[in-house]
Amino acid sequence: MDVGNRLIAAIDAPTRSEAEALIARLGGVPSWVKLGLELFCAEGPSIVADHVARGHRVMLDLKLHDIPETVARATAQVARLGAGLLTVHADGGRAMLEAAVKAAGTTGVLAVTVLTSLDEADLADIGAVGPIPELVAKRARLAIAAGCAGVVASPHEVATIRAIAPAGFLIVTPGVRPAGSAAGDQKRVMTPAQARAAGADLVVVGRPLRDAPDPAAAARAVVAELS
Ligand code: C5P
Repeated sequence: MDVGNRLIAAIDAPTRSEAEALIARLGGVPSWVKLGLELFCAEGPSIVADHVARGHRVMLDLKLHDIPETVARATAQVARLGAGLLTVHADGGRAMLEAAVKAAGTTGVLAVTVLTSLDEADLADIGAVGPIPELVAKRARLAIAAGCAGVVASPHEVATIRAIAPAGFLIVTPGVRPAGSAAGDQKRVMTPAQARAAGADLVVVGRPLRDAPDPAAAARAVVAELS
């Protein structure tokens, strides 16, 4: 897959017009936009097709998780929209991942390994067994075996996954903060250069771009760190 300049801008906005305003301020610098549940629920699937028609590479972050048949049918609809990447939850299990991959056509399926909002106490509550790095590695292996295009993981798990991943397997990481920017609610962050050095192929950056006085300049600085 052509990863462009490796920067995915998270377009976390409640309406099409606010999303458009952010995209305009980004000045076309990021090769990718990440459209999430908020915008998808507010504006519907046409928002994806619109961006694709304008030449944007789209990561559609829906984090699907259901029985294989339902995920396959939803994935087939997403594939028609032309998104480059679609997220699903790895803990939907192997059959669900395989069903998504089969239905996705040229859309790459990214498996979310373990949500970065969960700690080991949360995992125990839902009956999952840590430690988190081991669980992430286990789910990354599952994603590889199921034919996924890649995984979404914390920057701190990138090196572990890179060590077990075949060539071309994508590692996409949020939780990235240029030096000096606020971490916000992201607990375990790395700079873009650190994430890239650890083996990330693509980084997702949201608030440090959105909240910058000049988002295009902030995006250019991230891209410079990634090359
Ligand atoms: O603003 P920030 O750079 O933290 O935005 C990161 C983006 O990546 C948000 O859209 C967030 O929902 C998403 N994300 C994340 N952690 C995950 C998966 C997705 O932060 N594990």
